[in-house]
Amino acid sequence: MKTLSATWRSPSNIAIIKYWGKKQNQIPQNPSLSFTLNECFTETTISLVPKETKSDELQLQFYFDKKENIAFRLRLLNFFSSIQKDFKFLKDYGLVIHSANSFPHSSGIASSASSYSALAAALCDLEVQLKTGKKTSGKVLVEDKKWLKRASVFSRLGSGSACRSLFPYASVWGKSDAVKGSDDEFAIGYEQGLHKEFKTIRDSILIASSNEKKVSSRVGHSLMKGNPYANARYKQAHKNLAELTVALKKGDWEHFGAIAENEAMTLHALMMCSNPSFILMNAHTMSMIESIRNFRESSKVPVYFTLDAGPNVHLLYPSAFQKKVLEFADFELSGLCEDGRMIHDYAGKGAQKVK
Ligand code: DP6
Repeated sequence: MKTLSATWRSPSNIAIIKYWGKKQNQIPQNPSLSFTLNECFTETTISLVPKETKSDELQLQFYFDKKENIAFRLRLLNFFSSIQKDFKFLKDYGLVIHSANSFPHSSGIASSASSYSALAAALCDLEVQLKTGKKTSGKVLVEDKKWLKRASVFSRLGSGSACRSLFPYASVWGKSDAVKGSDDEFAIGYEQGLHKEFKTIRDSILIASSNEKKVSSRVGHSLMKGNPYANARYKQAHKNLAELTVALKKGDWEHFGAIAENEAMTLHALMMCSNPSFILMNAHTMSMIESIRNFRESSKVPVYFTLDAGPNVHLLYPSAFQKKVLEFADFELSGLCEDGRMIHDYAGKGAQKVK
């Protein structure tokens, strides 16, 4: 038997409207919108090999950075068993998976979005190869709306935010009256909703700490169940998304920035008032935020921030201001970063087939 394989590269993404709180099956409590990054990505190869036994049991080997990784393998076994009914071929082959990230494991950057989207893209690619008996073209696949939808659905089942990573520049996940075609089960591309200045948005990630997350996203999402502000939050997300779509269309950085910062602060406020409560910012995060706001006020440079569920700060700004922002970041913010570490990223083209 010829070994079939597919290698996909998929980036991380940064949410402007945050997904925080979910229902059964990774259905989000509110819609979210993110920019697709470029430099922070995962590259994953799935190879189908002859099975050692005849049973229906999954056969899976997983290598991260060329080393066998048992902890990840167990997570993936759970994932693959949950989707085995949707990919019948999984019982006929053994799977050998190799994965690596472009960013260091200990950078505090969540890799679940890039890794599950790369994995789902490779899996959905193999499905087409088996069906047609032919090698596939990555370009043709990503232009096929049905294929993308399927890849997004299965990315979501791995990790919610992963379903947004496949699309060029920006993407929306979750039903919203403000975005035509939006859906809770998969994300859709949002390039058409962007003013040209937002297509070249830059995101410089300031690493305030590279420590493991204090609380997993899964636990964080589940804490929204008992949060007394949950319903008000879900309503706010809908309103913020509707307003954001207007700002993105117009190229209105000021309004965009106000919404981005409001969403970031809300996310952290929700965690602080959950039970148990978590503080995921550290002292450097606070100093960075203060410094960014002061610099913006005095320089009139349109630079804003957002945060993920951790202490690192994402600086968001138009590419035309790159020089000024980088000077500011080097001068005032790098001292607040762990070992001076920053990752300079920008909006990119989404998932791509490597081979
Ligand atoms: C704060 O997608 O990591 O980054 O679905 O449990 O895997 P799971 O959660 P995950 O949550 C991401 C939360 C966030 C906001 C966002 O990306 O929208």
